[in-house]
Amino acid sequence: MKIAPGSRLQAPGKDLEPRTSNLERRTAEERLIVALDFTVLEPAVRMARQVRGLARTLKIGSALFTACGPSAIRRVQALGFSVMLDLKFFDIPSTVELSCRAAARHRVAMLTVHAAGGRAMLEAAVRGAREEARRLNRRRPLVLAVTVLTSVDRAPASSLAQRVSAMAAVALEAGCDGLVASAQEAGMLRRRFGPRPRIVCPGIRPGSLQGTRASTGASPMAPDDQRRVCTPSAALAAGADALVIGRPITAARRPRAAAQRIFEELEEITAC
Ligand code: C5P
Repeated sequence: MKIAPGSRLQAPGKDLEPRTSNLERRTAEERLIVALDFTVLEPAVRMARQVRGLARTLKIGSALFTACGPSAIRRVQALGFSVMLDLKFFDIPSTVELSCRAAARHRVAMLTVHAAGGRAMLEAAVRGAREEARRLNRRRPLVLAVTVLTSVDRAPASSLAQRVSAMAAVALEAGCDGLVASAQEAGMLRRRFGPRPRIVCPGIRPGSLQGTRASTGASPMAPDDQRRVCTPSAALAAGADALVIGRPITAARRPRAAAQRIFEELEEITAC
């Protein structure tokens, strides 16, 4: 499927299941994804318990997975959470396909690949996730393509947006279900690709970060190492389906209270 510039994606065929897009109405709990960037399992599990009822999906990235392996996935799934496995696969197509097959066996709800890996790699990722899930008769993980990292800002915003847009087109043509992008590009992506692709945005910084240990002394919207940041409500208004939030919650003195404030902000805008 070729996507002409400015065009919208067609509705996917049946085999592009599972559910995608912001065509469905989501609750605040579905929109908040908490990043468990820990290297020890027990604090990660304690954090998961703290955000119960406020987030339905937890993100396990390279730090926790490298430290603890698949048992991290099983522990948070046992608490009733869905898992976004954020290992940002970027390798030759056959290796990425095998990795995505393995991720599907872990019953993760979403996995990430780097859009920069190119069309053949992205197609291999989708094929691996789809075929393995079909073989096991399970819902397959959403395959999300990471565009330009939110920690990058060494280019004018317009050329970053062009890069993100071009990467997104390749990823969606390859059959990916959605994109990981800065909320600063979410509006542009929605306009270009329509409502169907799932857009997940990290680099979220609430308007007020009082009590965040990692951000002591910095501005109220301390970005840490993030550069293209946005507030939760602005990200949703721009068209994000879900927000990945780590340190504003996990490094807060009172993580549940921090998550609760973000949840309420999301609820407010979701109810509009
Ligand atoms: O702590 P913070 O909210 O900055 O965490 C953001 C999370 O999102 C991290 O786990 C990071 O790995 C992830 N991420 C990101 N930018 C991307 C893709 C993923 O920050 N483009």
